[in-house]
Amino acid sequence: MILSPSLLSSDFGRLAEELAALEAAGLSWVHWDVMDGLFVPNITIGPLVIKSLRPVSKLFFDVHLMIERPERYLADFVSAGADLVCVHAESTHHLERAVAEIARLGAKPAVALNPATPLSAVEYLLPQLSMVLVMSVNPGFGGQSFIGFCMEKIRSLRAMIDAQGAETLIQVDGGVTLENCAEIVRAGADVLVSGSAFFGFPPYAERFAAFNRAVEAGR
Ligand code: DX5
Ligand code: ZN
Repeated sequence: MILSPSLLSSDFGRLAEELAALEAAGLSWVHWDVMDGLFVPNITIGPLVIKSLRPVSKLFFDVHLMIERPERYLADFVSAGADLVCVHAESTHHLERAVAEIARLGAKPAVALNPATPLSAVEYLLPQLSMVLVMSVNPGFGGQSFIGFCMEKIRSLRAMIDAQGAETLIQVDGGVTLENCAEIVRAGADVLVSGSAFFGFPPYAERFAAFNRAVEAGR
């Protein structure tokens, strides 16, 4: 299991220190939530902020774009230092083109699905995708509760990926906690995003260990 802490719940006034603390705590990924006030009601950060933090961190930058027509900004996010760029299936008319463009630019391509979006939206793209992000809340805010039917959706996606023999990772984002993380991994998730249930409970090394223990105990 890879844990990708969502900076949305971190201290935006101290992003450089937060990134250093994650690295010191043994994390390898960090999750950036980019919101435009159109695709989702909230506004967060853009490529300039990511670019200014890139030199201070070796973490794998997992960039979740919650923006309309993300194809307009893919080159900006990759040149800012995104290692993986995730676009929402609902945010573009030309999903395959956006995925191919991310790969052409040199980053790992991923697609996110809102809770009610069916898995068929990514079925034919799996061979091209490094990761599918199953949203387990409606995107826009941290601290919401996991939507129950998403557990079954993760299981179905696991079966779809295995049936195709694809190597696509499954990421789950929204309402992930110490209590439900083991079940989410059992359902087939490879990467867990956690915002409020992670940053609210320092020190980060201990919280990271607690997530790992919970997942191990639930196997
Ligand atoms: C929601 C974001 C999530 C969010 C998760 O729109 O995509 O990454 O930060 O926060 P928690 O873990 O608090 O649900
Ligand atoms: Zn996210």
